[in-house]
Amino acid sequence: MHKKIPLYDIVISKQAISNVTKVLQSGWLSPGKMTSQFEEKILEITDSPYGVAVSSATDGMQLVLIALGIGDGDEVITTPFTFVATVEAILAVGATPVFADIDQNSLNIDPEDVYRKIRINTKAIIAVDIAGYPCNYDALNKICEEHKLPLISDSAHSIGTSLGDKSVVHHVDASIISFHATKNLICGEGGIVLTKHKMIADAARILSRHGMTSNASERAENNSWEYDVASPGLKANMSELHAAVGLGQTTVFEKEQAKRTKIAERYLKNLTDITEFVSLPKQMRILPMAGIFLF
Ligand SMILES: Cc1ncc(COP(=O)(O)O)c(C=O)c1O
Repeated sequence: MHKKIPLYDIVISKQAISNVTKVLQSGWLSPGKMTSQFEEKILEITDSPYGVAVSSATDGMQLVLIALGIGDGDEVITTPFTFVATVEAILAVGATPVFADIDQNSLNIDPEDVYRKIRINTKAIIAVDIAGYPCNYDALNKICEEHKLPLISDSAHSIGTSLGDKSVVHHVDASIISFHATKNLICGEGGIVLTKHKMIADAARILSRHGMTSNASERAENNSWEYDVASPGLKANMSELHAAVGLGQTTVFEKEQAKRTKIAERYLKNLTDITEFVSLPKQMRILPMAGIFLF
């Protein structure tokens, strides 16, 4: 008998349903109070200084690349072991992705190969925390400092991940989380750009709404339709409905993470004895917030 394995198996919280109802009843669907509250909550969970909720992590990465002035003729070093979105974001701004190999223990980008791939046109590095396991940010930061390159984390999988006692955003210039339905915290479709640099956050926010200097809420509040377009951008803001789902889902986030950890523990336990067929990473341990960790 074949058992159908679902692509994802999500639990929608009561709070998410109630938040969505509230937004629908309010008649206001553009970014507003729910979006601001969701951003605040994610800043709290990730201990991040700044955050901009966006329509997807893919768009979030593109916004960061544009904010950093990366475009035609530039090269961005990344990993081939990722979802297509990482590479797509680089191509979308007109830059060329250059692959550095991965480390076979962590499955994350290998800093030594990153170092070998740096050329005159290299303008940034996008590392990916595969399955929530953090990249070797100490080594990557040394390389970035030496070559004056921004370090971006595709943190689509790594909400709740920390390195030492600090979350990923503290180790990079920008960290982009996904709230896609397969992810640890969901909102339907969405993401957030996290950063310790106010300039990146401000630029990402303006670029996410066509480069407009004010958003719909501000215009409605001031009873003014006027706005300036500071530069061409994208349409990549998060909608109030998606934020309503995301904010509601934060009430079950820890419980859902614990569930994932249990599943990871089960895989680990049951795969350990069949190393004849399955090669497990050399060192492994399980952390409560992000599933299986390898050391
Ligand atoms: C590693 C990685 N990066 C980026 C993305 C894109 O996320 P989003 O669907 O929010 O654009 C995903 C989604 O699956 C992913 O797994």
